[in-house]
Amino acid sequence: MQLLKDRINKDGKIKEGNVLKVDSFLNHQIDIELLEEIGKEFKRRFEGEEITKILTIEASGIAIACIAAKYFNVPVLFAKKSKTKNIAGEVYTSKVESFTHGKVYDIMVSKEFLLKEDKVLILDDFLANGQALLGLSKLVEDAGATVVGAGIVIEKGFQVGGELIRKQGIHLESLAIIEKMSVEDGVTYR
Ligand code: G4P
Ligand code: NA
Ligand code: NA
Repeated sequence: MQLLKDRINKDGKIKEGNVLKVDSFLNHQIDIELLEEIGKEFKRRFEGEEITKILTIEASGIAIACIAAKYFNVPVLFAKKSKTKNIAGEVYTSKVESFTHGKVYDIMVSKEFLLKEDKVLILDDFLANGQALLGLSKLVEDAGATVVGAGIVIEKGFQVGGELIRKQGIHLESLAIIEKMSVEDGVTYR
């Protein structure tokens, strides 16, 4: 998606450890007009698919999912990150190991809002090692629902997530795939 790549080139900041900061338009301050274009692009890429719900994970995924949902006309469900060990039986849970943050956390959604009839599109801001996406798809499977696909705004193509998800047979659409990045040369896209 050229508009997105242009914006990353203009306002993205490359940090130590292969981290791309997009705080001025996606992760902290949010450019709603850009999110509207992103929402339309997701709609275009999943055209013809039956989707009944968009699933994302707090926090950064929520804004993206909410704007995209306007074009899909479906509700948004966001998985909560929980620090509680003992979670009651009314929720589906899954463990996510964050390599970036070096910790494991539980994610959960209420059983009330994820039904076996649901055809779910998973959306998130970044795809790095893919653990968040795998955790979300496990929640959907546990509910007996269907993962229609996954939409990612920025995929870090040099990390393993994209390959992991595609290997699982999940229809993955990433709007910008970064092949490599460095402070000297900037971002190179696939
Ligand atoms: P994974 O889910 O793909 O395995 O990713 P990983 O654990 O490595 O990433 C942990 C968090 O860092 C995720 O956000 C992810 O979106 C974000 N992230 C990964 N690489 C980058 C990057 O280069 N730039 C930015 N800005 N974020 C990156 P999170 O912990 O779920 O936090 P939240 O922001 O959604 O609340
Ligand atoms: Na995220
Ligand atoms: Na994030």
